[in-house]
Amino acid sequence: MNANGLKVYFDKNSYQCRQEEFTLNSLKNGEILLKTDYSSLNYKDALAVTGKGRILKSSPLTPGIDTCGQIIKSRSNQYQEKQDIIATGCGIGETVDGGYASHIILHESQCVPLPGKLTKKEAMIYGTAGFTAALAVLRLKQNGQEPEMGPILVSGASGGVGSFSVWFLNSLGFEVWALTSKESQHKRLLTLGAAKCIQTKDWSDKSKALESIKIGGAIDNLGGTFLQKMLASCQLWGSVASIGLASSHTLESTVMPFILRGVSLLGVSSNNCPRALRLECWKLIESLHSHTHLNSILDKEILLESVEDVSKKMIDNKTTGRTIIRTP
Ligand SMILES: NC(=O)c1ccc[n+]([C@@H]2O[C@H](COP(=O)([O-])OP(=O)(O)OC[C@H]3O[C@@H](n4cnc5c(N)ncnc54)[C@H](OP(=O)(O)O)[C@@H]3O)[C@@H](O)[C@H]2O)c1
Repeated sequence: MNANGLKVYFDKNSYQCRQEEFTLNSLKNGEILLKTDYSSLNYKDALAVTGKGRILKSSPLTPGIDTCGQIIKSRSNQYQEKQDIIATGCGIGETVDGGYASHIILHESQCVPLPGKLTKKEAMIYGTAGFTAALAVLRLKQNGQEPEMGPILVSGASGGVGSFSVWFLNSLGFEVWALTSKESQHKRLLTLGAAKCIQTKDWSDKSKALESIKIGGAIDNLGGTFLQKMLASCQLWGSVASIGLASSHTLESTVMPFILRGVSLLGVSSNNCPRALRLECWKLIESLHSHTHLNSILDKEILLESVEDVSKKMIDNKTTGRTIIRTP
């Protein structure tokens, strides 16, 4: 069977992304064939499409770490034909072909049934961004973070993960401070539940080993000096969840926040999240679902033809919220 989608071709000297028809392999035991409806554009996808990050592990490969659609053929005992499913991470669009195509073959271990309260389009507005925000919030809570410990700072707040983090934390009773470089997004972030918005530049300087305590905890999308400052300014026994590297993949810190204040640095890795926790994250998303908030986070719906262009804008920090992709 043929599919229509994006393929990225690369070698040492060149990097090219183009839309084409390609042939799918036949299904192996445990696999399903999905007619996709939607995918989404995440920062990782933007790195993969533009070649700005080494995301794709072989060439040619279809990018797209998120997908949602209906099963049209199944060799799985867990999933039947006509069932709607979603898949986020689990190597898709990275080590195996991803969601930027009309059809995709998935292994049952990569699939999650579409949560009952969500349409396929809504599931992709959440996508990896919503899923990862839910995972970070669960990790903070499991590690003992309580609203009484003080405000949670969310960096990269106007982006996908950041916007969901603001909303989810506020819904669970936390005071949220949104760190953003975009003044135009303040109103939207306050509506999503931020108590206040702080300019990114006010948190960008290199911090001392310990600063005065300013925050109860944090969800960080930026890395580098931002993450260092969050650790140094965090409340006794507070937690900082590290999600992203939109500013830098480095972290220079001292052990002082850990050994003098009991601060925890929590890793958040959505790609290889264990299945039980994956299902818990989607349950949390379903329980907090709101059409109004979700629509305020959706920035645009695009076709495969525009993916390269919007990816470049995302890398240049010229996008906000979520972009979803209607697949052919
Ligand atoms: N660990 C995981 O499993 C996981 C999962 C998903 C995403 N991620 C990572 O999390 C980060 C956010 O992902 P996303 O999909 O939400 O991306 P996104 O929608 O592009 O959001 C990133 C936000 O970070 C800020 N930003 C971007 N470039 C920046 C720069 N150079 N310096 C300072 N701030 C900058 C911007 O927010 P403001 O303008 O509001 O400041 C931007 O909206 C990315 O690094 C991504 O790779 C990790």
